[in-house]
Amino acid sequence: MLCIDEDHKTTKNIRYSKAFTVSIADVKNMEAADFFGIATGNRMPDKFEKSGCHAVKSEFVNAPVITEFPVTMECELAEIVDTENLHAVVGKIVNVSADEEIVGEDGKVCPEKINALIFDQFRSGYYAVGEKVGQAWNAGKGLMK
Ligand SMILES: Cc1cc2nc3c(=O)[nH]c(=O)nc-3n(C[C@H](O)[C@H](O)[C@H](O)COP(=O)(O)O)c2cc1C
Repeated sequence: MLCIDEDHKTTKNIRYSKAFTVSIADVKNMEAADFFGIATGNRMPDKFEKSGCHAVKSEFVNAPVITEFPVTMECELAEIVDTENLHAVVGKIVNVSADEEIVGEDGKVCPEKINALIFDQFRSGYYAVGEKVGQAWNAGKGLMK
């Protein structure tokens, strides 16, 4: 689910193509990722070219996959929720593509290999995701007694 404004070029593109992709930004691609967030295709028609990134058409949905980013979720548009308090673009993930170097022997993405960026809304900083600190659905088990 993306909570993005109705007037963004991205939202208009999604309404038109009925599909979108979501990439996980990593430290290596921070400049381009931030640029995507501060430039708008509404006023900069060559926004994508200016980013220096490259894209191929997804084999699964009518949307581009940026080749520089390590993990991409390819989504069909499921619905756009527009209420007084929420404007959300909801997608159904139909495929996840990932660079081989961040996939483990079990075929699953290894988050610690992505070097993913986290956006901090307190001070607008970007941080890198660090090491694994626990196991979900397990770390709190001791308190179940
Ligand atoms: C770090 C960061 C996070 C952002 N998060 C959101 C968000 O959650 N929702 C939103 O509507 N805009 C968000 N923005 C702003 C849009 O990315 C920005 O308005 C952009 O110009 C829209 O581009 P477009 O018109 O080409 O789609 C964010 C920007 C940055 C830099």
